[in-house]
Amino acid sequence: MVKHPKPLLFVLMFITMFSQPVSSVDFMFNGLNSTDVLLYDRANISSRILTLTDETSFAASRAFYISKIPTKIPNSSRVLPFSTSFFFSAPPSMNRYSFNIAFAFTTNTDNHGTNSDFSIGFSGGVVVDFNNLVSVSYHAAGYWLTSDFDGDQSFEELNLNNGENYQLWIDYADSVLNVTIFPIGIKRPKHPLLNVPFNLSDVFEDEMYVGFISSSTGYQSGRILAWSFSNSNFRLSESLITSGLLSFTIPLFTIPRFRYISKDRLLPE
Ligand SMILES: *[C@@H]1O[C@H](CO)[C@@H](O)[C@H](O)[C@H]1NC(C)=O
Ligand SMILES: *[C@@H]1O[C@H](CO)[C@@H](O)[C@H](O)[C@H]1NC(C)=O
Ligand SMILES: *[C@@H]1O[C@H](CO)[C@@H](O)[C@H](O)[C@H]1NC(C)=O
Ligand SMILES: *[C@@H]1O[C@H](CO)[C@@H](O)[C@H](O)[C@H]1NC(C)=O
Ligand SMILES: *[C@@H]1O[C@H](CO)[C@@H](O)[C@H](O)[C@H]1NC(C)=O
Repeated sequence: MVKHPKPLLFVLMFITMFSQPVSSVDFMFNGLNSTDVLLYDRANISSRILTLTDETSFAASRAFYISKIPTKIPNSSRVLPFSTSFFFSAPPSMNRYSFNIAFAFTTNTDNHGTNSDFSIGFSGGVVVDFNNLVSVSYHAAGYWLTSDFDGDQSFEELNLNNGENYQLWIDYADSVLNVTIFPIGIKRPKHPLLNVPFNLSDVFEDEMYVGFISSSTGYQSGRILAWSFSNSNFRLSESLITSGLLSFTIPLFTIPRFRYISKDRLLPE
């Protein structure tokens, strides 16, 4: 019997025509590495921690994922959904505005200082802003605690510059942007801190750089300890490793040393 190749060909054509050949990005860095991120100005990585803003220079600093990522379906108005999360800490300070860091999308890494096309800024409070000019939404940093007993919500305010590690989580889909912040180690709060209708279609190019910028208005170093990003898996960031993290409140010498295994694993030496 001769097998006819046509059905297979047809299936392949069908898949090619009707599946969307849109590349999506997934990455998870439990600890950052200069092979994974581009560093500008005063941004540096040591002990697998990304540090933004030099305490002495008052300079801006920037760090982006190593290459542009697809952010829109090419030549369309459709923005790719994304979910991203990172661990952040700032040295203890009495000044609420001691640091000023943003998660940003930009078309051009040559943009000077804090310019970007879209950024979600956070300092003592949390701001979602466009091009660092128009503040779209603002909320004091904190998270909503839902009572297991009656489902009641209470707001827990956070002081982001107390040296502790915090997790920021940003989800975007269907022109809605959610931002959640919570202390590392607790379960992700059910309700986001910010829930902002915002269509990124006119802001985004087809491909963009994604990463962090710190502004010179802050004068202390912010640290990024881990970072994940996905266009398809909105639960990816749940797998970030929350144990064994360095923090400003734990002196360096008490931290066990880590052995580098792969992008997503650190094992004690
Ligand atoms: C960064 O990653 C590369 C390859 O993934 C590895 O060879 C290198 O040792 C890593 N550097 C640090 C500082 O962990
Ligand atoms: C990285 O930046 C921090 C904060 O500005 C600084 O203390 C540290 O010395 C820098 N490390 C390197 C390797 O440049
Ligand atoms: C998008 O449009 C540009 C210019 O019209 C064209 O060169 C390119 O091939 C298009 N890309 C896709 C994926 O359709
Ligand atoms: C944003 O939060 C709202 C309220 O919790 C939720 O209904 C919605 O699905 C979330 N959207 C994204 C993109 O996470
Ligand atoms: C977002 O804006 C684009 C272009 O203006 C439009 O085509 C699209 O329908 C909008 N999306 C939503 C969910 O409103």
